[in-house]
Amino acid sequence: MKILLISSSPRGEKGVTYALAAEVAKGAQSLGAEIETVHLAGKKLGFCHGCEICHKGNMTCPLKDDAHLVILKMLNADGIVFATPNYINQVAAPMKALFDRTSNLIHCQRLLGKYTAGVVSSGSGLNHPVTDYIAYYGRLCGALSSGGVSCGAAPKPEELKAAFDLGEKLAGDIKEKRAYPEQQAEIDKRRHYFADVIKLRKEAWDGEYRYFVSKGWL
Ligand SMILES: Cc1cc2nc3c(=O)[nH]c(=O)nc-3n(C[C@H](O)[C@H](O)[C@H](O)COP(=O)(O)O)c2cc1C
Repeated sequence: MKILLISSSPRGEKGVTYALAAEVAKGAQSLGAEIETVHLAGKKLGFCHGCEICHKGNMTCPLKDDAHLVILKMLNADGIVFATPNYINQVAAPMKALFDRTSNLIHCQRLLGKYTAGVVSSGSGLNHPVTDYIAYYGRLCGALSSGGVSCGAAPKPEELKAAFDLGEKLAGDIKEKRAYPEQQAEIDKRRHYFADVIKLRKEAWDGEYRYFVSKGWL
């Protein structure tokens, strides 16, 4: 079972975000998960140009940078932990830049069958908008959310415990392919929506059209 931990803290393993994320990793490892960590700090990650080339042909973004490698790791993982500091009630910019580069993962729900978890730290500890957003992003890509954890300036013992428990839950969800019918209904509804959009744009978004046909969704 492969779990990818993506952190967008500029302070990497010295930051508060990582202190919490490391507990999630330990919890998942206790159920046998193999963890790979990617720190977005220091990675070359350009902004989406909105060119729509990723919807065409072989669905590859023309920007030449590290996003490709990170996205490949996302596609190859069974679960993804998104860890970020709360920056103005959002994920930090490198993580948003990564999300913006995954437009065809959203249209084609290329994370279907996977699970996500959100880890957020902040000054205030009021992180629900960010953990909710991470769960929402995962569902946009077809992945079910195992949940989120958060903490303030210094993680409390109960927050570290919640993080460990979330790691166990994430690994358990992957192992047992646990169903979350409400989340699944949202994902299924959105896939039907994109089927209609992609059918209408079949010439312009030929790569995504072929993907939908190959999956039997069109
Ligand atoms: C640009 C910026 C925006 C921030 N916005 C918020 C915020 O909206 N709410 C909050 O509680 N903390 C905010 N913080 C504080 C960070 O979320 C907090 O220090 C976090 O734990 C840092 O994580 P790190 O140690 O992994 O870098 C902000 C910090 C920065 C630098």
